[in-house]
Amino acid sequence: MSQEIFRSPKKRGRVAVFLSGRGSNFRAIHDAILAGKINADIVLVFSNRPEAPGLAIARERGLETLVLNPKLYPTREEYDREILRELLKREVDLICLAGYMRILTPLLCQTFRHRIMNIHPALLPSFPGLNAQRQALEWGVKYSGATVHFVSEEVDMGPIILQAVVPVLQDDTEDSLAERILKEEHRIYPEAVRLFFEGKLEVRGRRVFIID
Ligand code: GRF
Repeated sequence: MSQEIFRSPKKRGRVAVFLSGRGSNFRAIHDAILAGKINADIVLVFSNRPEAPGLAIARERGLETLVLNPKLYPTREEYDREILRELLKREVDLICLAGYMRILTPLLCQTFRHRIMNIHPALLPSFPGLNAQRQALEWGVKYSGATVHFVSEEVDMGPIILQAVVPVLQDDTEDSLAERILKEEHRIYPEAVRLFFEGKLEVRGRRVFIID
């Protein structure tokens, strides 16, 4: 069976970050860009929540922000259609979901196939969905971590780009584990974006190869 092969583009990339909250992963990616480590610009920081703290960080940093209120759209598809228009206007190459708390419709997933990344605070495919750190503690795993993956229509199930492992300690709380994982998130998410725009990510079926 022939399988589709996707190779990420080598170029100065135009990135849109989607967030609904704190925005620490967004900040880590932007810091890496400012430090010259990633060949890209953040051309839009998008949110569904006007009060998201990450938006304030974006504004302080002089980045363009956009908020669309989902309640003003009759369906999820129409909401995403409006987002898509905004992305196309800005010629966005890559969407980075960074704590964006909405599920994307097939419209966005398909139009930006292999061009949407997400970060998840667990070693996927373990503990997808919400409260991944709590799920890991309750399951009793000895290691958890972070996963950067491409977004497909099934939530948290797209091809895995990078993972980082952290130990789960006996006296961990959800917060202490989340903090340990977050440090790794801030390392591997910028790294994945860097590899993308260096043209080094190749997707073959479910597997992502890093090509040097
Ligand atoms: C992170 O734990 C990320 O893995 C998850 O949502 C959280 C976002 O944190 N998807 P922040 O807004 O980037 O600080």
